[in-house]
Amino acid sequence: MSEQSAQSAYDLVVIGGGPGGYVAAIRAAQLGMKTACVEMRDALGGTCLNVGCIPSKALLTSSEKYHEAQHSLATHGVKLGSVTLDLNAMMAHKNKVVKDNTSGIDFLFKKNKITRFKGKGSIPAAGKVLVTSADGKQETIAAKKILIATGSDVMPLPGVTVDEKQIVSSTGALSLSSVPKKLIVIGGGVIGLELGSVWQRLGSDVTVVEFLDRLMPGMDTDLASNAKKILEKQGIKFRLSSKVTGAKQEGGKVTLTVEPAAGGNAEKLDADIVLVCIGRRPYTEGLGLEAVGVQLDERKRIKVGHNFESNVAGIYAIGDVIAGPMLAHKAGDEGVVCVEMMAGQSGHINYDAIPSIVYTWPEIASVGKTEEELKKAGINFKVGKFPFSANARARAMNDMDGFVKILADAKTDRVLGCHILGPDAGTMIAEVALAMEFSASSEDIARTCHAHPTLNEAVKEAALAVEGRPIHI
Ligand code: FAD
Ligand code: NAI
Repeated sequence: MSEQSAQSAYDLVVIGGGPGGYVAAIRAAQLGMKTACVEMRDALGGTCLNVGCIPSKALLTSSEKYHEAQHSLATHGVKLGSVTLDLNAMMAHKNKVVKDNTSGIDFLFKKNKITRFKGKGSIPAAGKVLVTSADGKQETIAAKKILIATGSDVMPLPGVTVDEKQIVSSTGALSLSSVPKKLIVIGGGVIGLELGSVWQRLGSDVTVVEFLDRLMPGMDTDLASNAKKILEKQGIKFRLSSKVTGAKQEGGKVTLTVEPAAGGNAEKLDADIVLVCIGRRPYTEGLGLEAVGVQLDERKRIKVGHNFESNVAGIYAIGDVIAGPMLAHKAGDEGVVCVEMMAGQSGHINYDAIPSIVYTWPEIASVGKTEEELKKAGINFKVGKFPFSANARARAMNDMDGFVKILADAKTDRVLGCHILGPDAGTMIAEVALAMEFSASSEDIARTCHAHPTLNEAVKEAALAVEGRPIHI
């Protein structure tokens, strides 16, 4: 780099404007770095704001309200006439929420004087980012440091080609123009359960086909099996230990060939819409990583060291494109820590205290280790469990399914994990994540005054139950 271009170079060029990239760019600007962000979508915000967390939660909330109006308000003495669905209005609300959030990032970029480049970024050499815009125009920007935050993309399923009309990914499933009569979801993971719930509540007959003999691999088994029972009661059907080997589109229907995962006789299942959600894969296409020498791991994720730097000096990566859970808050926290370390600060992420939430109803929330992980690691632990059926606030809400489970070290009592199935579990898990960040014991949680009547009292009671002394059961 010549002296002149080094002077005009950005301190940091971030490729990807999702929750990893945009948060990193804002933090870098706060730290005084001259920062640019290259994003190929029109709107900033990445998968999360455009076609992920935000639109899915808008539809989950709206469909919950519809379902509540139909099925549960009468118990509270609120009687309605006939309840009808206006899907266009529901979608318009979702689109507005997305627009408000993505334009909020534009505002934050302006406020923090971050330069946005619209186009696809690639790295011809360390210190250079080439931006190719949709009309083919190219521009090279000089960068002292480059941060790759290009996220992830839908994992394809051989034999079941996504057309985003009848065979959709999560992106298509967030924008269906009518409620499918029959929806088959391939993959009983987070997307399958969330978007399966949306369409089931709106009236679809939903069947989830899952390869494994359980839902949500990696999630505490107790939580996953109880969640399955509740979702079944709501009307979702599950075909576990099954694999889809082909799809045929004919006469407005999709016919799937489904076989036992272990092999055996195939059968045919018909659907109006098929949702493919068998995981996501890191997105590194077109970055030119091979030429520049950036190493990937066995799952094609960018390999990084403790400070998120790749094997090529000056090229860093965070978020879905590196190892770890594919979660927006994990990506954002990595972005912050990565640029703070670039600025000479120390930083750390406690990967044992990253909460994860499935926004079904009831919600499913976890932080830390599962029972299975602790057993596998040979760690002795105690279990404290408390059901929402014994929580006064849950009774008042008439929302009593589920429980809180706390896992604590048998010797030190340090909280090692917490798993909640219940109303607003996603909000409740935050207190345990915070407790774990401070290395709290279950007794610390049990001795903390919790307001009454709140759902969080179930967390306190589960902590008391670790020592066998809950009050209300
Ligand atoms: P992304 O958000 O994927 O952003 C990457 C950006 O980089 C994209 O905008 C892409 O266009 C851009 N890009 C890629 N390559 C280039 C290039 N060469 N040049 C320029 N730009 C490029 N997580 C949660 O924590 N909570 C949730 O509730 C949740 N719900 C989800 C629901 C759905 C349906 C989906 C699909 C995902 C959900 N996730 C959720 C996961 C979450 O969206 C991701 O973990 C998160 O977006 C990852 O952030 P990221 O910044 O690493 O990547
Ligand atoms: P996932 O990894 O959560 O689930 C995929 C499921 O598909 C697994 O249960 C897997 O066993 C199954 N599967 C794999 N191959 C299959 C096959 N051939 N046939 C049938 N089943 C098969 O992936 P998902 O749901 O696609 O979500 C992708 C990522 O997006 C998640 O890992 C999550 O990190 C993120 N996400 C997070 C959300 C949240 O935090 N609330 C919401 C939605 C997505």
